[in-house]
Amino acid sequence: MNNILEVRDLKVAYGAIQAIKGIDFHVGQGEMVALIGANGAGKTTTLRTLAGLLNPAAGSITFDGQAHAAIKGHDLIRAGLALVPEGRGIFSKLSVHENLEMGAFSRTDGKPAIAADIERMFSIFPRLKERANQLAGTMSGGEQQMLAISRALMGKPKLLLLDEPSMGLAPIIVQKIFETIVEVVKGGVTLLLVEQNARLALQTCQRAYVIDNGRIALEGQADELLHNEQVQKAYLGE
Ligand SMILES: Nc1ncnc2c1ncn2[C@@H]1O[C@H](COP(=O)(O)OP(=O)(O)OP(=O)(O)O)[C@@H](O)[C@H]1O
Ligand SMILES: [Mg+2]
Repeated sequence: MNNILEVRDLKVAYGAIQAIKGIDFHVGQGEMVALIGANGAGKTTTLRTLAGLLNPAAGSITFDGQAHAAIKGHDLIRAGLALVPEGRGIFSKLSVHENLEMGAFSRTDGKPAIAADIERMFSIFPRLKERANQLAGTMSGGEQQMLAISRALMGKPKLLLLDEPSMGLAPIIVQKIFETIVEVVKGGVTLLLVEQNARLALQTCQRAYVIDNGRIALEGQADELLHNEQVQKAYLGE
């Protein structure tokens, strides 16, 4: 399997605070990989670095065969990387439809293709179609998460980075969103999922890394980690 993402000895600091202290991980093409860990472990920092919002202090990132440092900024989106941030980051004063259009800003394949993809998002999440003209900020948390994911998909990413998609949502909505994420991945997107809900992440993904205080503490097949005593005690509340 080809790796769409390879991270080697990555270090990221906020001034004097070393948030990521040298981590190695990879994501294979078409894979669903989870990054789990406690509050402050460094999950968001890792995703923000991959999205080009933070600069690494050291280490290397290879995305889709290219040096990440050479791509940078908007070009990372064009190259196929999409981040759905913690807190969703939708444009609350724009309508659902306008948010989806914004998600396609980096595309050059023309309006008909973009319009067709908006319809595709509406068929994935019919709730968004009903609310196409509603201001995004007035939607429920679950609807906003659906929009955030759809907006990211409008950029036609190769690798989707999701930061805590289950946060603050009712279990039934979380289930619906995760079922959809799995469908999207089957349609040809690769997923790196950050979750504090470790059980959900391990049940969804094939492989996982456990990050603890800026280091990878454990890694393996998701079903093995689900049965790992250390993981059960620390992250699954057993
Ligand atoms: N802007 C910042 N300035 C200084 N320190 C920061 C900043 N953002 C994060 N940190 C620190 O970096 C560490 C990692 O934070 P990060 O947000 O990556 O954790 P996380 O694993 O996403 O946690 P959570 O599960 O709570 O979202 C923490 O110790 C945090 O306090
Ligand atoms: Mg976080």
